[in-house]
Amino acid sequence: TTLGLADNHGRVATDLRVSLTDRCNLRCTYCMPEEGLDWLAKPELLTDDEVVRLVSVAVTRLGVDEIRFTGGEPMLRRGLVGIVARTTQLHPRPEVSLTTNGIGLARQAEALKEAGLDRVNVSLDTIRPDTFQQLARRDRLKDVLNGLEAAHNAGLAPVKVNAVLMRGVNDHQAPELLQFCLDHGYELRFIEQMPLDAQHGWSRDTMITADEILEHLGERFDLEPVDAATRGSAPAESFTVQGGPATVGIIASVTRPFCGDCDRVRLTADGQVRDCLFARTESDLRTALRAGADDEDLAERWRKAMRGKLPGHGIADPSFLQPARPMSAIGG
Ligand code: GTP
Ligand code: 5AD
Ligand code: SF4
Repeated sequence: TTLGLADNHGRVATDLRVSLTDRCNLRCTYCMPEEGLDWLAKPELLTDDEVVRLVSVAVTRLGVDEIRFTGGEPMLRRGLVGIVARTTQLHPRPEVSLTTNGIGLARQAEALKEAGLDRVNVSLDTIRPDTFQQLARRDRLKDVLNGLEAAHNAGLAPVKVNAVLMRGVNDHQAPELLQFCLDHGYELRFIEQMPLDAQHGWSRDTMITADEILEHLGERFDLEPVDAATRGSAPAESFTVQGGPATVGIIASVTRPFCGDCDRVRLTADGQVRDCLFARTESDLRTALRAGADDEDLAERWRKAMRGKLPGHGIADPSFLQPARPMSAIGG
């Protein structure tokens, strides 16, 4: 469609990922340093009304039909339930999901379900308390597990689990994590670590690749690729486990990039549109919004912001540079 968020490479963004805060209550080593980061100041953050306004422009004028709230940790945002409720009341109603570390979900899952939230993706890299402490630098495993259970019981289905494997830390725990998710009815996906950490500590040699993950899992499970035609623009490649119906996913952003089928666009917590996780530029919608721009003006700025989206992330290029902002500020 000519009125949607089309780029110059034939892709149209219909999946909007909205970061609600750059803050987090964990300190995963692959994401941010122990001391945290220079958080955005309150006046820089979009207000709840501003978030809903921009989401509504995306849904009603730009053909966006999926909204995912992320962070940082989106459950640290006080107005989350209200933002979700207002988003699910838009016409046409978008699918609304949440990517969270799970802390606080035990308390909020029911309210989120009532607000219309469709499903959640929860980060969980290990089911061992000592490894959790080492990886996330906080002793919160129990809160995450309780959160997962609450989401499942509230019917936020399917509950997906995201795991990043780190060499020498949790890479040999892949099979036990899969068994745990099978036992609880969670859909597990392993994610290749990407060069998006604040410390710039990523290196291709320490990253656990999709091939390695499949090898580790293959020692305990019989995996068969799911028909690729059903994948669409999902980042995850799916495999049936022990003949199905359960599946496990691999998000191989680095070794098997899926940018050619990308349908995503991002809005940062401070109101900047990013056409890609790895974009080198952002388009400022907050300033226009606060200057009184009307919906069509905002929509047109947004369309313009998408046209320069690059065909791929370029991680393999010798000239690759990490984006200036880390993943926690961009939105996961
Ligand atoms: P669903 O499959 O719809 O549940 O969502 P998702 O997998 O897109 O969302 P989620 O927030 O759980 O993201 C999981 C991981 O996928 C993220 O941590 C990223 O590592 C990766 N991912 C999501 N979007 C992109 C993207 O646009 N580009 C790349 N390279 N990776 C992405
Ligand atoms: N590479 C890959 N995934 C990452 N995540 C956070 N940082 C990185 C990174 N550098 C994951 C989180 C969460 C999801 C939103 O992104 O673990 O599951
Ligand atoms: Fe927080 Fe998510 Fe980063 Fe972990 S990966 S520190 S949960 S933003």
